Amino acid sequence: MERVAIYPGSFDPITNGHVDIILRGAKLFPRIIVAVLENPKKETLFATDERIEIIREIFRDQAGIQAVHFHGLLVRFAEENGARIVIRGLRAVSDFEYEFQMALMNQTLDPKIETLFMTPSSPFTFLSSSLVKEVFGLGGEIGGLVPPVVERRLREKFHRPDTSPIKE
Ligand code: PNS
Repeated sequence: MERVAIYPGSFDPITNGHVDIILRGAKLFPRIIVAVLENPKKETLFATDERIEIIREIFRDQAGIQAVHFHGLLVRFAEENGARIVIRGLRAVSDFEYEFQMALMNQTLDPKIETLFMTPSSPFTFLSSSLVKEVFGLGGEIGGLVPPVVERRLREKFHRPDTSPIKE
């Protein structure tokens, strides 16, 4: 069986914390499927297609990393894609209870599924998509916290021109 891992999430939008986990995960698994949750009940800033487009652009040179959308049960999506490993980032104690519940529920639904928790690299331990959206929406700068394509897309969404000095 091919060693494939799924990295599921909302990715609204993807941050450098997510990118860090994906790149480190890619050193462990030859194929990583970044599975973007499509949930019509949840209001998102970026549509599913936009979130996927962004992720594909970031990893366009990495053949082993692909981005697709999924809906319904994660364990079913994993089964359909021949994956037994689900990667999740664990930033702080505050993440633990939700992640613990989710991992055990997935294990109950399908005992073949293993959840692999990865800690983010230290500069990203505080980072979340919601914080990025809040800070940017309030006029703060988020350079270095998200890939350049995300910053560009956020500027478009919020109609905010780039006023930083032109880099030589
Ligand atoms: O980035 P997020 O929003 O924390 O990701 C949550 C996600 C997408 C991993 C989770 O909501 C999920 O797996 N949803 C699919 C539905 C499902 O399988 N639910 C039962 C598992 S608890």
